[in-house]
Amino acid sequence: MDSDIQNVRKDYRKRGLLKQDLPDNPIQLLEKWLDEASSTDPTDYNAMCLSTSNEAGQPDSRIVLLRSVTEMGIRFFTNYHSKKGRDIEGNPNVSVNLFWKEWERQIRIEGFAARCSEKESDLYFASRPRASQEGAWTSKQSSANVSPSIEKRLESTALRFKEKTEIPRPDFWGGYDIAIKQIEFWQGRPSRLHNRWRFTLIDKNECSWKIEQLDP
Ligand SMILES: Cc1cc2nc3c(=O)[nH]c(=O)nc-3n(C[C@H](O)[C@H](O)[C@H](O)COP(=O)(O)O)c2cc1C
Repeated sequence: MDSDIQNVRKDYRKRGLLKQDLPDNPIQLLEKWLDEASSTDPTDYNAMCLSTSNEAGQPDSRIVLLRSVTEMGIRFFTNYHSKKGRDIEGNPNVSVNLFWKEWERQIRIEGFAARCSEKESDLYFASRPRASQEGAWTSKQSSANVSPSIEKRLESTALRFKEKTEIPRPDFWGGYDIAIKQIEFWQGRPSRLHNRWRFTLIDKNECSWKIEQLDP
């Protein structure tokens, strides 16, 4: 039997996003919204839904953590052999969604993913807690029914690096940079008259963007 999902209707009214609030470069607004979101939810404000698709065009989504904002986009880290890694290697077009309930805000991004430099991945990996580094070596992320158990394999990894003060980064683990082609800022407004502004990259070298207001 179907079951209806109920929620209490809400009228978004915290704030608006007007043309005069928009910078020429949307990366500045992305940083501002991330900063504001971190003040109300310091643990999960950078959780984003990343969508990839395989070569047959089947989309798939999962949460990853946004780790840095770069000159032209955003960066996250993962296992390059994971499902998302394999999707991206076959089709680098991705989309990202961020939603901050407390701020009645959503950001939608369409972009192009490419591995960041090995040096940047090394630096980030070195900053991670030792247990996370051992986890990265151990997990065959997205593989099914791996044997022996992850706990058993983790013991072997810990033993393998026991004598090492620093654990090197595995070459199958690192960052992806998503170069933003399009980004939309959504600010909830009363009576569903939400403010939506879409920036589309025109020229990367000149960092020029077309700005359009979208109907809610
Ligand atoms: C809050 C949250 C943060 C996560 N952050 C990451 C991350 O930064 N990198 C990552 O590879 N997986 C992260 N995951 C796990 C992914 O959602 C996913 O389970 C995993 O990456 C395997 O995805 P795949 O099989 O599509 O490759 C996170 C999950 C949650 C719920």
